[in-house]
Parts: sequence; structure tokens; C-alpha cells
Amino acid sequence: MPTVLALETSCDESAAAIVRDRQVLASAVASQVEEHARWGGVVPEIASRRHVEALPQLIAQVCRESGLSLAEVDAVAATVAPGLVGALLVASITGRTLARLHAKPFLGIHHLEGHLASVHLGEAMPPGSHLVLLVSGGHTELVRVEGPGDVRRLGRSHDDAAGEAFDKVARLLGLGYPGGPAIQEAARGGDPQRFRLPRGRVSRPEGGFHPYDFSFSGLKTAMLRLVRSLEAEGSTPLPVADLAASFEQAVVEVLVERSCRCALDQGLTTLVLVGGVAANQRLRTQLAERCRRDGLQWRVAPLAYCTDNAAMVGVAACERLATGCRSAIDLGVAARLPLAQADSLYSTPPPF
Ligand code: KG4
Ligand code: ZN
Repeated sequence: MPTVLALETSCDESAAAIVRDRQVLASAVASQVEEHARWGGVVPEIASRRHVEALPQLIAQVCRESGLSLAEVDAVAATVAPGLVGALLVASITGRTLARLHAKPFLGIHHLEGHLASVHLGEAMPPGSHLVLLVSGGHTELVRVEGPGDVRRLGRSHDDAAGEAFDKVARLLGLGYPGGPAIQEAARGGDPQRFRLPRGRVSRPEGGFHPYDFSFSGLKTAMLRLVRSLEAEGSTPLPVADLAASFEQAVVEVLVERSCRCALDQGLTTLVLVGGVAANQRLRTQLAERCRRDGLQWRVAPLAYCTDNAAMVGVAACERLATGCRSAIDLGVAARLPLAQADSLYSTPPPF
């Protein structure tokens, strides 16, 4: 079983891990959240600088904790797309340099393939095809997975990602960054039915709606109007708990409804939840409940591996290694790359 050093710096978490197959030998994450919170969102230049400072210490830490030296790992992996280019470069250059120095293979990993692999860090997955609801700060996708790299997107958001909607609405309610955990906390004890909010649908040009697609921009605008009208009525302080709970319920309901419908229509029996928003308790509870009713098996990534981390990147790398994948040492990074093109990271010449 191969042992991999994995690095992740695609956004605002610097992370390193040493993974053997599906077992995490050591995992360390340095979050920059506090620093970005002052600006209400991620500042790319600050993110890159902090990655440069944090990554060497994180690598030293995972080596210490696993009791392994870099000479003892079988390969080095780094997230290379999608993400902030300056941020991605830190893990990419560090990873390729270490691979070169220690004469190990290098694997560039697609960030979303890492999120998909995060579920393997929990309970064993039932064999066969499954549907994944991937919900993060940058993506909301329904992905049919047949095996490593064999994926087909069946649904997506046409505007904001679910996590982005949490972040923007949290800012509107004065709840700080990142918005997901802040809204979850503020919604505790709130009435999720108090405010009726839109469950955004995406029209098809030929009529009807895309059954598995999402739209959160209308919900965000409805929240803005609601807050403004409550303020105009003199409702101060704002009923933040009820507002947060009603918003959270609206997001969770559409995610649960459309994912289960998609799994059933596709004849799939297992639904998997991954990505930063998978940490949301209301979503975990309601999805589990609905799957039970619909007779679907369900799996969720362990809480610690929902938001960005390097262990998930390590597991994805182990799966790629097992199928003979290697990346060119001059592979670059890309801000965008559809998940369905992740195979191109192992082609020669490299795609970027
Ligand atoms: O996967 P992730 O760490 O980074 C990206 O790849 O984007 O996801 C970060 C997103 C943020 O938008 C954050 O607000 C959201 O995940 N998030 C949550 C929760 N924890 C993190 N959203 C809802 N509820 C949570 N508990
Ligand atoms: Zn992510």
C-alpha cells in the first residue's frame, strides 16, 4: 500500500497530510480564517503569503507525527486545480520540488476529486456507482461516480455555490466569516418556518425546469429585501435567529430534495455528501432522514474532513497511484478545470 505526502493550498487553508491508502497517518491544517474575516472574504494575496509561511511547518509536523521521513513516502501529491492561482502555486511548487529532491513520483490532484475521496476516510463505502452531492464555497454539484476519475456531472448551481450563499447572507446579517458555521450557530433555537423564502429553480429554454440544478441568487436577494423591509418597519434588533434558520432551511430543503430525486431517477442506491457545507448539521440530519424514507443508503465525509484538508487529497492520490497515474514534473496550476477533465492531469505533455 503506497504512502503519500499530500499538500493543499487552493484557497484559505494550508494543509499537509501523510496518508497510507485510506488511513490518515498524520494530518495538519492551518486556517487563515481569522485573518480573512477582517475583510469579509478571502484576500488572494494574503492567502498566498500565509501558505508560503505555513506549509514548511505543516510538512515538518506531519512527518514528526507519522514518524516518517520524506525519503520513506512513495509519492508526493498537491492540489493543482481549481482554486486561486497564486495559492495553488505554493503547494504545487513545494510538492514538485520535494518529489524531485527525493526522486518520487508527483501527482497533481483536482480539488473536487479530493472532496469526493473524503468520504473514503469514514465508514467503508458500499461497492458500485453512487451519487455525490458536493457542496463547498466554490461548487454545488451532483456527480455520478462510477470509480476514480470516472465521473459525470448531473446537476450544478447556475450562480452562487451553496457555501458562497451562506457566506454572503452571513455578511448581510452581520455574522462574520466563514458564514456557514456562523449561520448554523445563529440559527440554533430560531424558527425555520417564520419567513417563507424562495426555493430557486432554473428554467429550461424549452420549458419546465432543470430537475437537478440549483440557483441561490434569488434566495440571497430575497434575504436582502426581507432584512431591508424589517429594518424599515423598525424591527430592531433584527430577528437574526429566525432569519438564519429560515435561510438555512431553504438551502437544505432544495439540496435534499433535488439530490434524492436525482439518485432515485438514476437508479442509484447510495447518496454521498461531501464538501465544506457537508459540515452543516441541519443538512446532515435532514438528508439522513430523507434517505431513510426513500430507501437510499447514505454516507457523509467525517466532520473533520468536510472543509478543506490534505488527507482527502492524499486518498485521491492513492487511488490515482493504484491505477498507474503520474503527473509530469512541469505540470502547472489552473484556476478552473471541470472535474470531468481531471484525467488530463496525468497526460504528457501536461494540459497547463
Ligand atoms: O470545502 P471548503 O472548505 O472550501 C471550498 O472548497 O470552497 O468549503 C468552504 C465553505 C464555506 O463557504 C463555508 O461557509 C462552508 O463551506 N461551511 C459551512 C459549514 N462549515 C463550512 N456551510 C454551512 N454549514 C457549516 N457548518
Ligand atoms: Zn474545498
